[in-house]
Amino acid sequence: MPIDGGSAKIPAHIGIIMDGNRRWAKKRGLPAIAGHRAGMKALEKIIDNANEFGVKYLSLYAFSTENWKRNPLEVEGLMGLFRLYLKDKVERLCARGARIRFVGKMDAFDGDIREGVREAEEKTVRNGAIEVIICVNYGGRQEIVDAVNRLIAERMESPVTEDAVRSKLYAPDIPDPDLIIRTGGELRMSNFWLWEGAYSEYYFTDAYWPEFGGKELQLAISSFSERERRYGAT
Ligand code: FPP
Repeated sequence: MPIDGGSAKIPAHIGIIMDGNRRWAKKRGLPAIAGHRAGMKALEKIIDNANEFGVKYLSLYAFSTENWKRNPLEVEGLMGLFRLYLKDKVERLCARGARIRFVGKMDAFDGDIREGVREAEEKTVRNGAIEVIICVNYGGRQEIVDAVNRLIAERMESPVTEDAVRSKLYAPDIPDPDLIIRTGGELRMSNFWLWEGAYSEYYFTDAYWPEFGGKELQLAISSFSERERRYGAT
């Protein structure tokens, strides 16, 4: 589906902070988990839309290092959805030629989830249509601290360079996000792609995540397409 009659610049990598699931549920008198379930459906659809638009990398912030502090029932519900996603949705992604990767500190998850992640990554590793990166137990500050610790462990000589830090990030082969979208009306980064997002363009919308679909993605890409990126130069 062409955007702006085919003239739009399509960002190679779009990152999304999927916010507003609980408010979406609350507005409808539903429990928080119903919002997350609707959020998972929105996630599935947006992968198809991004693929159609020609986006090469789509990263989605599904669970932050801070989300463990939520009500244990909600955390348990989110883990249930994570399991369901690995069990039921990966096949569909694979059929669409998508590669899936999970980025974050996996050691915090139960063994069956870690195994599901490993299998999903292995099954889709040769797919090239779109790369879907799901950030789970991810925190941008933690990622940078982990990179520095890896450099220290390898006795990297000082001065440490940007290239050296970058090479130790969780997924150094993925290009930096060109566009980061945040739904749900808040205007902050919340620890997402802190290093990688240094020169990203940002797009904020009041739509709650479960309401965000192909049309909204199209608007975000159009807005990106009109901007001039200067990377600090004149
Ligand atoms: C933010 O909304 C959303 C989350 C913390 C969870 C996002 C999870 C999914 C979209 C589905 C799960 C998918 C996988 C693969 C694990 P919020 O809960 O902070 O909403 P609020 O801002 O209205 O409180």
